[in-house]
This record gives sequence, C-alpha cells and structure tokens, in this order.
Amino acid sequence: MNSFNNNNIQKIFITGEKKLTGNINISGAKNAALPLMALSLLINKDFNLYNIPDLADTRLMSNLLIDLGIEINWQKGNLNFNGKPKKDEASYELVRQMRASILVLGPLLASKGSAKVPLPGGCAIGSRPIDLHVMVMEALGANIIFDSGFIIASLGNDGLKGAVIDFPLVSVGATESAIMTAVLAQGQTKILNAAREPEVTDLANCLNKAGADIKGIGTDILIINGVKELHKVSHSVVSDRIEAGSFAIASSITMGNIEINNINPKDLTEFINVLKLTGTKIEISDNSMKVSCSNRPKPYSVVTNPYPGFPTDLQAQYMALMAIADGTTLIKETIFENRFMHVPELMRMGAKIFTNHQEAEIYGVKKLKGAKVMASDLRASMCLILGALAADGTSEIDGLYHLDRGYENLEDKLTNLGAIIKRSN
Ligand code: UD1
Repeated sequence: MNSFNNNNIQKIFITGEKKLTGNINISGAKNAALPLMALSLLINKDFNLYNIPDLADTRLMSNLLIDLGIEINWQKGNLNFNGKPKKDEASYELVRQMRASILVLGPLLASKGSAKVPLPGGCAIGSRPIDLHVMVMEALGANIIFDSGFIIASLGNDGLKGAVIDFPLVSVGATESAIMTAVLAQGQTKILNAAREPEVTDLANCLNKAGADIKGIGTDILIINGVKELHKVSHSVVSDRIEAGSFAIASSITMGNIEINNINPKDLTEFINVLKLTGTKIEISDNSMKVSCSNRPKPYSVVTNPYPGFPTDLQAQYMALMAIADGTTLIKETIFENRFMHVPELMRMGAKIFTNHQEAEIYGVKKLKGAKVMASDLRASMCLILGALAADGTSEIDGLYHLDRGYENLEDKLTNLGAIIKRSN
C-alpha cells in the first residue's frame, strides 16, 4: 500500500537509464471509483464495489461517505456499503482536500432532499469551476444558494424532475452529476453533449444493473427515465486507462519491454495510435498489450481532447517522452488552462520546452539528466517519474502527496519492472 500518511515529508529517489521489462497488472480506475462510491448515497443496501484502488483519493471519498452516515466495509479492493446518509452536510475538512468531492452533491440531494457541500476550491491545473454541476441541479428542479463557502441545494414539494440538460462544453464530472441526480428524478432527462469517457460509461452501466434506465451509454446523448428506487448490486470497477498509458510510456521512455495486463485496450485507442507513431511497438490482445521500444522516440504532435481524443490526463507523461524525441513536438492542451506545471521541472532535468498559453513546443534532447524536482499535481508527478526513469543519474522527486492520490503501489510496480526507485524521508 502507498504510505500516504507521511507523504508530505517523503521523497522518491530514482536512478535512471534502466530498461523496464516484465509484466504488470493495472489497478481499478480512480476516476471511475470515485463517482461509483458516491452511488452508495443512493443505493442503501448491500452495494458492493470490487477492484477499488487503495489511494489517498479513494480513502478520502470513503471517509466523506462514512461521515455522512454510510457504513463501509473495506476488504482489500472490495467495498461493501450499507445504510442511508444520516445528514445532508458534507465535511469541509474532507471536501477541501479533493475536488471530486463535488460528486456527492447530486446523490445527497436525491437521497435527502437537501444538500450542503463546501465549494471545493481551485487546484493547481486551473480554476476548475463547478457552474455546470450547479446548472445540472437547477435544471432538475433544485433551488441553489451559495452561503459562507457552501453550495446549499434544496428541493420543493415536486422533488427532482427530469429535464433537458445541454452542456455548453464536455465535462466528465458534470455528466456524472447529471446521471446520478437524474436516475431517481420523476420523468425523463435528456443529456446532450455528454462526456463519453469510459469512467462515465462504467457509472451508467453500474446504475443500470441497479435498476436505473439509462440509454445511449457511451454516446454523447444520454436518455434517462427516472425510476422509483435502486436495488442492491455488485460491480467491478473498470481498469485505469491512465495508469496503463503511464506504464506504456515508461516502457517507451526506457526502451523497455512491458506487458500491461488487466486493461481494456479499446479505451486507449487514440493514445495507442499516437504512441505507435512515435515508433513504439504495441501488440494488443483482449485484456493486455505488450509495449516495447528500441529507438529514440520520433516526435509526434498532439492536441488533448475529451474522449475518444487524446486524454489530458496523459499529456504530462507524453511530454516527458517527447522531451527526448528526435525532433520537435507541439502539444496543445485544450481541457485545462494551466496544465503545464510540469514544464519548468522537466526543464530542470534538461528538457528544452517553450510554452505559450496552452501550447508547448518541445525540442527533443538526446538525454535528460537526474535532478531535484517538485511535483505540482497528480499527472505532473508521473511525468517527473518518467523523466527520472530515462535520465542519466539520480533524481529526487518531492511533492508525493499528488502521486499517492492516483497511482496504487507505484514503487512496487516499478521495482518489479527493474526500476531503481526508493521512497524515503
Ligand atoms: C475529470 C477527471 C480528471 C480529468 C478530467 C478531464 C475525475 C475525478 N477527474 O475531472 O482526471 O483530467 O475529467 O478528462 O474524474 N468545467 C467547467 N465547469 C464545471 C465543470 C467543469 O467549466 O462545472 C470545465 C473544467 O474547468 C475543464 C473542463 O470543463 O476546463 C473539463 O473538466 P471536467 O471534465 O469537468 O473535469 P473533472 O470532471 O473535474
């Protein structure tokens, strides 16, 4: 298990230039686990989730739900939930630590008829507003006020009512909020411009197994016919495509050979196409892929986009690879306005990168050099780990809190592949 209790003072040391080889199993997806766990506010009896990754963020969501009155029995990756929420106010101390806590707003409102959730605040990768979540609640009949840093949502006598929700931009979280809030609303809800990420699909599939009526799953138009109640269900969380993509880059950047198991390669189609175009060899089977590379990567420019486009959550890691490419790459980030925090740190390792607003131009260098660096957010920390794995010498990576939010057993997995990595105070 990650030692995320002392992670404010811990650092990771990596000695690079080791080819990574061997097999790894990918964990359940954090971004699917979090909304699925919030469903425990709606499914009141014997709700089971399997393949939940043990991470700072999933532990935090668990604590938030326990604080609201849900009983949770956590046995390895399997969670059993029972009970209804006993109060409608989410803890400020917990919500302020994780933006995804906003996902409890809709289910809490649907379950209790009212919800008081602290505003989650900004984060390193941008201001990350919650206006679309609020738009969802209002469209479905909630009255919303903001008071002393809280969003306070309440319902009139009519309760939640189906509506047309036409998103002005694609939002994973707001689509999930809309799905979770609409499943128990009276009548039909139509969600237009819905996010199609595999994690959204996983949430909708789990809900349908619990008796919800959601059509159009996997497309950008979802039709939800409200049902009276949800029944008990068991569901296994989809595997983490971002972890899988990160390990694929670990193989390319170290000119290694890794078999990545327990994945759904279809969820990574665009990423796999891009990686192949950089010269990486990828052999795909049903639930795994073999990723190997024997040459310096070729440059290939990308633009991040909502699924099925190139994922923003792999942009930083891909930049580490392009930092040693044989030529120049352009990376355009279209989802978040401030997601190049890893650039100055990667440059400390010798990368040559110029940024202009949401574009980065990367002039590949032959070799990165180990350095002391600081992780600023979750994916940035993986970018620095990848840079360090390829670099000449030893790197010291600080800011592990971010890493522990999203990568389960990372050091063990990398050590098993031959990396020289240790965590210490
Ligand atoms: C989720 C993922 C995150 C990923 C992101 C985009 C989780 C827990 N996190 O975050 O890892 O990087 O999707 O794939 O699943 N926006 C608004 N108003 C809102 C909500 C979002 O303007 O109310 C904007 C955001 O600022 C951003 C864009 O919409 O520019 C997309 O963000 P969104 O898809 O909502 O990201 P999250 O759900 O927060």
